[in-house]
Amino acid sequence: MHPILPAFPANRPRRLRRTEQLRALARETLLAPGDLIWPIFVRDGQGVAEEIASMPGVFRRSVDRIVEAAAEAAELGVSAVCLFPYTDPSLKTEDCAEAWNPDNLCNRAIRAIKAEVPDIAVMTDIALDPYNSNGHDGLVVDGIIINDETVEALVKMALAQAEAGADILGPSDMMDGRIGAMRTALEAAGYRDVAIMSYSAKYASAFYGPFRDAVGASGALKGDKKTYQMDPANSDEAMRLIARDLAEGADMVMVKPGLPYLDICRRAKDMFGAPVFAYQVSGEYAMIEAAAANGWIDGEKVMIESLQAFKRAGCDGILTYYAPRVARRLRAG
Ligand code: PBG
Repeated sequence: MHPILPAFPANRPRRLRRTEQLRALARETLLAPGDLIWPIFVRDGQGVAEEIASMPGVFRRSVDRIVEAAAEAAELGVSAVCLFPYTDPSLKTEDCAEAWNPDNLCNRAIRAIKAEVPDIAVMTDIALDPYNSNGHDGLVVDGIIINDETVEALVKMALAQAEAGADILGPSDMMDGRIGAMRTALEAAGYRDVAIMSYSAKYASAFYGPFRDAVGASGALKGDKKTYQMDPANSDEAMRLIARDLAEGADMVMVKPGLPYLDICRRAKDMFGAPVFAYQVSGEYAMIEAAAANGWIDGEKVMIESLQAFKRAGCDGILTYYAPRVARRLRAG
């Protein structure tokens, strides 16, 4: 875009910044509760909500508490919750079979939310890491993360989640061919309207550290995820992965992490015009919270500003641990 601007003093951009009303009229993007997806951590038990040390204000909740949290988010106008299970170490195996157990923690949580909170969409994560004794997103044989066998396992996981009532499936595993395989299996099983939000451009990032504590994967993880997650130095590759996932049947695509990758969000939106989402990940949240706790920044203001940045970069919505807090704040005006 090349706007034609008169020269100063005919052009005084400050005219439109003079009052809040004029700023509101000229505002280009709007952050709303409906843009938000709230990632929440599920654990077993009853009546439990334990705070995660590296993510102050974020809790692992038992299913009954998850239902309460989802109801609160729905009331605030948040569009979806995204479930992440903290799996008991005794259930983690090399074949990751707990991932497609119809009664695993995640699937029980999906059913409970769908039964009791009709006004919120339920999104899931599809990857084997919460169920894998070695912490990887895929099956490991002789130290190699094997692609095609992992895809077969992920398809079983996807079908179990669809059966439990998930509205949106979120494959975060970064295997090749998984979107097409899941879409074909969903169609064949009659789950025609289950949406897929592909973690298409997911980078091998150090910003996921606190999350791995939250789901109990930090201790288990051997090595890194660089053979399947993207190199942070790349941008064209992200466009190829997004094109591929849309062609294979993804309804929405995601960029992850968020703020350090806004260039990818903007490129994706401009190039494909598809629904684009970003994940403001655990490390981004932890950094804001840590600085705010020290009094170094105003946490509330940085929270809003960081989320506005995603809308400005072309994102349709954001996965953020701030979802209920920012929704409450937006309601208050
Ligand atoms: C698992 C997964 C991860 C996140 C979401 N799904 C971690 C990883 O890939 O190691 C990170 C979320 C966050 O940091 O907030 N596949």
